[in-house]
Amino acid sequence: MAEFQKMIRAGIPENLPEPKKLNPNVSHAPVRKKILGRDEEKLALKNALRYFDPKHHEVLAPEFAAELKAYGRIYMYRFRPDYAMYARPIEEYPARSKQAAAIMLMIQNNLDPAVAQHPEELITYGGNGAVFQNWAQYLLTMKYLSEMTDEQTLAMYSGHPMGLFPSHKDAPRVVVTNGMVIPNYSSPDHYEKFNALGVSQYGQMTAGSYMYIGPQGIVHGTTITVLNAGRMLQSGDTGLGGKIFVSSGLGGMSGAQAKAAVIAGAVGVIAEINPAAAVKRHEQGWVDELYDDLDALIGRILKARENKEAVSLAYQGNIVDLWEALAERKIPVELGSDQTSLHNPWAGGYYPVGMGFEEANEMMARDPEGFKAKVQESLKRQVAAINAMTSRGMYFFDYGNAFLLESSRAGADILKEDGNFRYPSYVQDIMGPMCFDYGFGPFRWVCTSGDPKDLQATDRIAGDILEQMAANAPEEISQQMKDNLRWIRQAEENKLVVGSQARILYADCEGRTRIAEAFNNAIRNGEVSAPVVLGRDHHDVSGTDSPFRETSNIYDGSQFTADMAIQNVIGDGFRGATWVSIHNGGGVGWGEVINGGFGMVLDGSEDADRRLKSMLYWDVNNGIARRSWARNEEAVFAIKRAMETEPNLNITLPNRVDEKLLDKE
Ligand SMILES: NC(=O)c1ccc[n+]([C@@H]2O[C@H](COP(=O)([O-])OP(=O)(O)OC[C@H]3O[C@@H](n4cnc5c(N)ncnc54)[C@H](O)[C@@H]3O)[C@@H](O)[C@H]2O)c1
Repeated sequence: MAEFQKMIRAGIPENLPEPKKLNPNVSHAPVRKKILGRDEEKLALKNALRYFDPKHHEVLAPEFAAELKAYGRIYMYRFRPDYAMYARPIEEYPARSKQAAAIMLMIQNNLDPAVAQHPEELITYGGNGAVFQNWAQYLLTMKYLSEMTDEQTLAMYSGHPMGLFPSHKDAPRVVVTNGMVIPNYSSPDHYEKFNALGVSQYGQMTAGSYMYIGPQGIVHGTTITVLNAGRMLQSGDTGLGGKIFVSSGLGGMSGAQAKAAVIAGAVGVIAEINPAAAVKRHEQGWVDELYDDLDALIGRILKARENKEAVSLAYQGNIVDLWEALAERKIPVELGSDQTSLHNPWAGGYYPVGMGFEEANEMMARDPEGFKAKVQESLKRQVAAINAMTSRGMYFFDYGNAFLLESSRAGADILKEDGNFRYPSYVQDIMGPMCFDYGFGPFRWVCTSGDPKDLQATDRIAGDILEQMAANAPEEISQQMKDNLRWIRQAEENKLVVGSQARILYADCEGRTRIAEAFNNAIRNGEVSAPVVLGRDHHDVSGTDSPFRETSNIYDGSQFTADMAIQNVIGDGFRGATWVSIHNGGGVGWGEVINGGFGMVLDGSEDADRRLKSMLYWDVNNGIARRSWARNEEAVFAIKRAMETEPNLNITLPNRVDEKLLDKE
C-alpha cells in the first residue's frame, strides 16, 4: 500500500520507467486512421512532450512519433503504472480530501482491465470512450487529487489536468469538460484530428466522467426498455414468454441485450461479428448458446418460442445475414433493434456484410472511402430486411446507437413521406413518455469501502424506500416503481457487479432524494461503513440534449438546442455536486449530443445532507420543466405535482392552442 501511495504522489516519475510492451491478453483500440499532415504530426509530438522534462525528450520524441505512426495516437505506453489498476477501498488512497479519494477510486475503476474495453489505451467503453488521452494525464491527475484540499478545484480539459485552483468546500472538487469545441468544428474528422493532436477527447458518457459501473447500468436500462417494448405489443404486464427479440452487438454495452432479454423472460437472439466478443460473453454466462450456422440457429429459435424459454442465443456472424435469413424464411419476430456502434461507423463501429472481421479492420485503415461505401451498402440491405419484418408485425426501435440517422445518411429506405424516420427511437415511444417525462432516470451508487456487505445494506435501504413509495404511487408512475422494486430485490442474485461495489436503479426526484438521504443517515449511524458515491449515467431526464436519443421525444423544435444540458451542469455545480462533467459526443456520436453528469460523495455529514437535497432536486426537475414546456403531457403532470409540494418551485407552464385555429392561418 505504501508503495502504491508513493507512486500516486510522485505523478510523472522523475526517472524514465522502462519502455513497456503491449499486454497481449487485453483488448487494444483499433489503429486510428491517419489524419494529420506532416506539420500537424510535429505539433502532436510537441504537445505530448510538454508533459516531460526536456532531458527526456531525446528518448521520448522518437518513441512517441513511432506510437503516432503505428496507432494514430500517442498513448505514452511506457508510463503505464506498475501497480494493479482497480477500485481500491477508499482508505487506501493517499489524499487530504475524502472527496478527492473517492474520485481516484472512480477513475481507477474506469481503467480496471476487468472493466475497461481497451485499458491500455485508457478507453472504458464504446470503442473510443476515453478517461484520459494518455498516461501522463492519468499520472498528473492522480497526483493532483492526492494533494488537493476541500478548498481547491481541479479543472479537467478533455483528460488534461489544467491544475488546481482555489475554491471553497461547497464547490465541486473536479470540473470535467470533454470534447467541447466551437460548434462549426464538430465533424467526426475534427474529432479525429483534435484527438490525434492530443487536445481533445471523446468522453462518451460515463468514461470521461469517472462514472462507469461495468455493464450493470446498461443491463438495467435494457431490461426496462425490453419490458416496456413488450408492453407496446400487448396491454398489461403479461410478460414476454415465447416472444423473440432480435438485435446485434455483444460488445461493451450491447452485451447487455442478451442478459436483459432473459431477465425480461424473452428469447434473445443477438448477432455479433467479432468472434472474440461473442465467445467472451458466452464464457461470462451473459449469453447462453453460440451459433455460427443460421439453419441451426433458426431451428433453435423456433423451439425456444414453442417452449416459451427465457434464453439468449448468439449468432456469430453479421447481423445483415441474420435479418435477411429471418425475412426470407418469414420467421415471426416480435421485437427488433440494433446495437452496433453506429456512433462511430467508419472506424470499427459497424462491420459491413460480405466481409470477414479482419478483412474489414484492414480495409478501414487502408481504404477509408471504399470502406465507407461498404458500410452504407450494408446498412441499406439491413434496413430492407428489417422493413420486410416490420411489414409482418415486428416492432422495431432504434436503441440509441444512431442506427436510423446513419441508415438515412446511407440512403436506406428508412424515411417516411413526411421526412421523419419510419421507426421510433426507444426514447420516443418508451423511455421518454414512460420514464424521463416523469423524472425517472438512472440513479447509481458505489460503496467506497469495496465491501459487498455495504452494497447489501444499501440495496435493502433502497428497496424499502421504493416499496413504501410504490404503495402510495399515482397510477401514472406505479409500473415504474414496481419494475424497479423488482429489479433491486433481485439485483444481488443477478450477480451484476463487475469492478466497484456499485448498483443502479431508476427513480424519480422523490425516490432519488429519499434513497440518498437514507444512505447518508446509514453512513452516519454506521450501518454503512464508508462514504457512498452517488451518480448517474448521462442518459437521463435533464443531463442530455440529444435529438435522436434522450430528447427525441421533444416536439417543439427545441430538440436541436443544448440549453438544458448546459443549464444542468452549471446548476449541479453550484448546488453541491462533488464533481461535474459536460461532454460532446457519447452514445450517438461527436457533434450529435451534449451530455452531462455529476458525482456526489455522501459521507454521513450534514453538509452532504444539504447538498444532496439541493442538487438532486434541480438535477431532475430542470429536465421535467423543459419537457413540460415542450408540451409533453407526462412532464406537465410531473412538474405540477412537484410544485404542489415545494413553494419555491415556480415553473412557466405552456398554454395549449386549438389546432383548428392554426389550420386557418
Ligand atoms: N440505448 C442506450 O442506452 C445505449 C447505451 C449505451 C450505448 N449505446 C450505443 O450502442 C452502441 C453499442 O455500444 P457498445 O458499447 O456495445 O459498443 P461496442 O463497440 O463495444 O459493441 C458493438 C458490437 O457490435 C458488433 N458489430 C458491429 N457491426 C456488426 C455487424 N454488422 N453485425 C454484427 N455485429 C456487429 C461489434 O463487433 C461490437 O462488438 C453504441 O453506438 C453506443 O453508443 C446505447
